[in-house]
Order: sequence, then C-alpha cells, then structure tokens
Amino acid sequence: MKYVRMPIEIESPEQMGYDNVKYNLTESSFADAQLGDLDLDLRSLVLCYGEHQGNRRLRELIAVESGVSPDEVLITAGAAAALFVIATSLLRTGDHLLVEKPNYATNIETPRAIGAAIDFHELRFEEGFRPNLDRLAAQIHSKTKLVSLTVPHNPTGSMLSEAELRQLIELCANKGVTLLVDETYREMAHGGPLPVAASLSDRVLSVSSLSKTWGLPGIRIGWLICRDPKLMETFLAAKEQIFICNSVVDEEIARRFLERKDRFAPAVFSAMQKNFAVVKEWMQKQSDLEWIQPEGGVVCFPRFRDSSSVDIERFYRVLNDKYKTFVGPGHWFEMERRYLRIGYGWPKAEELKAGLAAISLSAAEARS
Ligand SMILES: Cc1ncc(COP(=O)(O)O)c(C=O)c1O
Repeated sequence: MKYVRMPIEIESPEQMGYDNVKYNLTESSFADAQLGDLDLDLRSLVLCYGEHQGNRRLRELIAVESGVSPDEVLITAGAAAALFVIATSLLRTGDHLLVEKPNYATNIETPRAIGAAIDFHELRFEEGFRPNLDRLAAQIHSKTKLVSLTVPHNPTGSMLSEAELRQLIELCANKGVTLLVDETYREMAHGGPLPVAASLSDRVLSVSSLSKTWGLPGIRIGWLICRDPKLMETFLAAKEQIFICNSVVDEEIARRFLERKDRFAPAVFSAMQKNFAVVKEWMQKQSDLEWIQPEGGVVCFPRFRDSSSVDIERFYRVLNDKYKTFVGPGHWFEMERRYLRIGYGWPKAEELKAGLAAISLSAAEARS
C-alpha cells in the first residue's frame, strides 16, 4: 500500500480548527448530534472486546431495515473502514476497477494506494451528473474486478432510479463483476430511499453508516452488507486484522440510537428540507453559478459558468480570508476548482444564509 494524504482531509475544518471557520459549508452531513441529546446512561456497560462481526442487536436492527439477515451485516469503524476492508480484500496491484469521478476521495484513493488499474466513469454536468449506463457497460471488460458507485452521490447529490439500479445490478451480474454501492447517503434521497442494493443480489456489496443522516460521525459506526458467506468471511478476517472489533461504547450508542431513531427523524428531515429550500432560492439568484439540482444528500456541486468573469483563485481567497467561509473546492474531488461543493445540511438555516451570501459577495469581489 502506498498511502498519500488527501486534500479533503488535510484541508478539512477539523484539521484547520473549527474556530477558524465562521460559516462551514464544507460538510456532507446533517448537523452533529450531542451525546446529551441521546440521553444515555452507559455506566453498566462492560468494556470488553465486542463480538467481532459487530454487536448482534445492532446488526439485527440494521438487517431489518436493509432487508437482509444479521449474519450478512459486518459492523465497521464508519463507512470509511468498510470501503477499506472491501478494497483491500478484493483488489490487488493491477486489478481493474471502474469507479465514478468525481467521488468521495477514499473511493478512489484506497484503490490507488493498492496500485489498482483504475478507470473512471465520469459523471458529467451535461448529463445531470448521473451515471450513463450504456457508457458504463462499455467500460467493463474481462479484467474488471469491481464496479464502484455512490448513490445518492457525493459530491453532486445525483441519484439513480430503482429501475436503473436493478439494470446496473443485472449488467454487473451478466459480466461477472462485483458491484459496490456506497449508500452512505441512502436515507437522504429526496424521493425516499432506494432498496439496499445488496439485498437485491449476492453479487452486490452495500456500505453505509450513521455519520451523515444522523449527525453521528464521532461514534465511527458504519457497516457493509454482503450476502456471499465466503466473501463475508474474508471481510471479517480483514476487520479482525485491522481492528479486531468496534468500540463497544460506539456500538452501544449506535444500538440505542437506532432503537429510537424514529423520535429523531422528523426534526432531522424537516431541517434538511428547510435548508434545501434556502439553497434553491439562493441559486435562482446567482448569475455566475450554474448547478444540477441535487436529488439526494445535503450537498450540491455548482460551478462557475464558462461565461463568468470571476477569478477563481481570488474568489476562494476572499471567501476564506475575508468572510471566513469554507466550501469544498473542486480539487477535493480531482475536478477543476471552478466547481465547488456546498454542504447545506450541517449549518443552521441562518448560518447557511450568511455563508451563501458570503459566496455571492466573494464572487462579486473577484470579478475581473
Ligand atoms: C460517499 C461516502 N462514503 C463514505 C464516507 C465515510 O463516512 P463515515 O466513515 O463517516 O461513515 C463518506 C464521508 O464523507 C462519504 O461521503
């Protein structure tokens, strides 16, 4: 493995210090929860090694929601660890991977660290940032080991329809290729969640976590779903060699949260809708920016128009230095910096409005 740190991590607010950020539009999640909101008493919890595959009751809760059995769920340290387990288990140097670009950086960087032969399935602004299944089919060949998609997508917020998801699963099955669907934003699909992809076929792997929809990234609880027992055994071996088991504290918090999730859901989804309305209204007034309206998640990925006279580097300088406002610049996603990811789920509506206003002001001040 050849590890290289990614700009999205080096430049993240938690690395820069949250105190240096006034308006944080970099996040792809809903606002972080506070432990007190969950009202837990963990004093009787025994701090033992946990069950290696993950707390049984936690797996049952996830399995019921996902339409699979608890033995088909492996708990990991966030979706990030699930992606690592999958990539390192399935890919060797030179193995062919087809993965979307732009993307959540790890979905590309871990296969790159392994030395996989990577082909990108480009999501194009002109195609609504949606996967093009005909193009994708033509990119799969006899050496392809893995096809990797994120639905809803980060950083664009694009979706697939259920019919397209089923078509994709069939396509990969016919070609004998494993399909990975990163579903970390699944519950945030604006039109309601798609079925868990792995529940539809044993050739499909699903990955998700509690980080994004529920604002719980600090407990590092995610999972992968795999209905092939042999492959699951390999994934468990990988987990055991990396970290044996999850933190029992994290698992207990996750378990108790999931048992009472319905109590939290209305407030979460209504705040997301409110913030989405704020972004839509703001976008309508932007002359320099164009976008594909997202269909899921709490991010969008607008870009400065070809016709815009905004000096992009000056724009970011003014935005960051003068207005202390931060977004995810295009290079976090290996794209031109005229693209920017705006995370609209993390700030409160008033902070979001102020952050968006700072983007407009910075663009105006950076026009040449
Ligand atoms: C698509 C996607 N997958 C996985 C992750 C990792 O999330 P976590 O490890 O917090 O569950 C992220 C985080 O941004 C993401 O955007």
